[in-house]
Amino acid sequence: MSFSIAITGKGGTGKTTAAGLIVASLLRRGLVPVLAVDADPNACLDEVLGVKAVHTVGSVREEARDKSTRNELAGIAKKEWLELKIAESLVEADGFDLIAMGRPEGPGCYCYANNVLRDVLQAIADNYPYIVIDNEAGLENLSRRIVQRVDLLVMVGDSSKRGLDTVERLFELAAEMKIEYGALAIVVNRIRHGVELARLEALKTATGADYLVTLPENDMLAEWAEEGKSLLSLPPSNDAAMHIDMFVNDAVR
Ligand SMILES: Nc1ncnc2c1ncn2[C@@H]1O[C@H](COP(=O)(O)OP(=O)(O)OP(=O)(O)O)[C@@H](O)[C@H]1O
Ligand SMILES: [Mg+2]
Repeated sequence: MSFSIAITGKGGTGKTTAAGLIVASLLRRGLVPVLAVDADPNACLDEVLGVKAVHTVGSVREEARDKSTRNELAGIAKKEWLELKIAESLVEADGFDLIAMGRPEGPGCYCYANNVLRDVLQAIADNYPYIVIDNEAGLENLSRRIVQRVDLLVMVGDSSKRGLDTVERLFELAAEMKIEYGALAIVVNRIRHGVELARLEALKTATGADYLVTLPENDMLAEWAEEGKSLLSLPPSNDAAMHIDMFVNDAVR
């Protein structure tokens, strides 16, 4: 059975960066193959991992709808066609595969694409010992249970007072929504001038988090993003990569 790691948090705080660093860390430890899931419609986990998702679950779903409208799927089992197409949209790379939800068009379609993604994940999850899911901001995806079980939930926030308050609220919301997970990690990202340790401890206590990970503001991460470079090419001696390595070492069996 695979071990699934889902990343969530406020917009722009470093979810995709954390997801990319976690995948890189799993690869370094030889915990492969990893399935990287880009479950954010404004996807860029592929770029962060140095691959390109041409077909997405959303685009396959659009194509299926167009074909149905034109009756082109008559005679072909729609389910089989979908499965084939989804398999085609899996990007294969060294040590990991990536699947992206993409951006479906039209109202109400996110929900459908989510359902398709959930079915796809159910079908292929067992091929991967580790699954890393980069989610959009908020808890929508998790509440739709795109994976059956989250073993490690990672909540990312920035190190400002407001950022930490937001993580605490997100935790409360997750509890209200009865989102289930095995262990909880809080990643406090982009620490510039230190952070109030008492506030961090209070956050850990309030959320019952199993892991508290701090990531420094890191010039190399900024530079890599600016140049569109893959986080897999970040030197393992990078400060942020080392913090994530230590975390993965503790949290992943
Ligand atoms: N520790 C860091 N040091 C420097 N830059 C960082 C750090 N963490 C993230 N960044 C940069 O901040 C930007 C936003 O990060 P990222 O895309 O990971 O956030 P996100 O939470 O996934 O955003 P979104 O909600 O849009 O998906 C990126 O350009 C990223 O490179
Ligand atoms: Mg992101």
